[in-house]
Amino acid sequence: MRNAIQAKLHTLFPKDSEVPADYRITAPLHQRTILINGEMRAWDGAVQAITSPIYVRKNDNTLSAVELGSIPLAGIQEADAALAAASKAYQNGRGLWPTMSVAERIACVENFSNQIVARRGEIVKFLMWEIGKSWADSEKEFDRTIDYIKATVDELKQIDNSSSRFQIVEGTIAQIRRSPLGIVLCMGPYNYPMNETFTTLIPALIMGNVVVFKPPRQGVLLYYPMLEAFRSAFPPGVINIVYGHGHVVVPHIMASGKINVLALIGNSKVADQLKKQHPKSNQLRAVLGLEAKNAAIILPDADLELTVKECITGALSFNGQRCTAIKMILVHRSIAERFLDLFCAEIEKLKIGMPWEKGVMLTPLPEMNKVAYMHACIDDAVALGARVMNAGGGASAETLFQPAVVYPVSAGMKLFREEQFGPVVPVAPFDDIESALDYIATSDHGQQVAVFGRDPDQIAALVDPLVNQVCRVNINCQCQRGPDVFPFAGRKDSAESTLSVHDALRAFSIRTMVAAKQTPASKQLLDTIVLDNKSKFVNTHFIL
Ligand code: G3H
Repeated sequence: MRNAIQAKLHTLFPKDSEVPADYRITAPLHQRTILINGEMRAWDGAVQAITSPIYVRKNDNTLSAVELGSIPLAGIQEADAALAAASKAYQNGRGLWPTMSVAERIACVENFSNQIVARRGEIVKFLMWEIGKSWADSEKEFDRTIDYIKATVDELKQIDNSSSRFQIVEGTIAQIRRSPLGIVLCMGPYNYPMNETFTTLIPALIMGNVVVFKPPRQGVLLYYPMLEAFRSAFPPGVINIVYGHGHVVVPHIMASGKINVLALIGNSKVADQLKKQHPKSNQLRAVLGLEAKNAAIILPDADLELTVKECITGALSFNGQRCTAIKMILVHRSIAERFLDLFCAEIEKLKIGMPWEKGVMLTPLPEMNKVAYMHACIDDAVALGARVMNAGGGASAETLFQPAVVYPVSAGMKLFREEQFGPVVPVAPFDDIESALDYIATSDHGQQVAVFGRDPDQIAALVDPLVNQVCRVNINCQCQRGPDVFPFAGRKDSAESTLSVHDALRAFSIRTMVAAKQTPASKQLLDTIVLDNKSKFVNTHFIL
């Protein structure tokens, strides 16, 4: 069975001539420029090849990864240049960007957004080819990001307008606004290379910070069509891009002590190490979105049809490569068998194939060694007494992997605690709700949980302890980040700081006030500053 599925997976990769014209990348993109200090600096040094997780079948029926292009394999010297440009642009808070009015900064961000909207087609195409995300989801990622930018602009207007006044308390006149923090090192993940990067990059920029940005290893060429927009929409040095081996350049940047905010959507071990590189820990703020091991808890009275549907999308959309994915299913033993039958039957119906195919859900996995790791997780669980419950689960051909449902998963197996971040679904039975709660409480992660059941008493009894363990309890629905105006946070090793349209603006700024004694002299002084429009901070402007 497994061999037959493996052979079928092999044939799902197209011949080169079979790639539909609308989705083709006509020629590899060899990027030879680096955006630093508002200049596209020419690069003639070493390069890093970028290949797609999508393979094509050659005439001899072997598979070969599609070459997408290459990027500069820059190093310490270029990282230092990026940092120097950022420092110059920030100029200890005196630079053009941090002292610009909010309305002017908004205009720059809107200009940037309009420019990249004009390049949507190219960006979405690279997104799909670089990480294997379905065309529909790649388009969604782009559009959601543009919506996020618009919502950020609207929210900032609200925040700024509500600060455009003086307050008088106990004889002190004050104007309180949000000010930038300095230089932000921004790094996004490969699974949402555009959206998750922009949910930190845009708020960081619009609040007046300057940015050193390191794109993810996969999901980097999609930034090429945006370089000119970055260059022309912002003053020189406000955004600088770093390429090269992350483990070399990023610790070096942190060790400079010049970074004021580490904005990383990635892994907790990496975040931990990077923070330690900074010589002055109190001068560093961290905005982190990290790994998670979100569980579904299925109670005996759950509506199984709905539960299965939500667990399928929760565990397997974009191959389970979402930080919010359901990565462990805890099901009451009394309904475990029925749940597994229905769940496996639904998995059979999922379409696996190339990202441009209509209705496809499972696509090639972009992460290096991912398929090998998926096999290792399954082998480990099987050696310790679990079984693969769905026919052909775990079969693979290069980067295509048939999802596997593994049961019963228990403590000591990799799948019990590790974040698999891929199409393997561990299921564990429980007899007593306390043991399900205990699983969550003893986890190193604390992002979200999904609870399935109908009894209000039981649901309420679960919600109350769970809200003190995770940051979102989903009732009868899968875990997810959106809507983006809602807080996206995590406890323990899952996050630091809260992201949402509103919270991100706060995360990348600090409340700052200008204060004076309530005297006639102060009033006259402040009046003159405001009426003669002398300050960007002390003013009562209203942004429409
Ligand atoms: O990878 C983590 C993403 O922020 C999840 O977002 O729940 O909308 O897929 P999503």
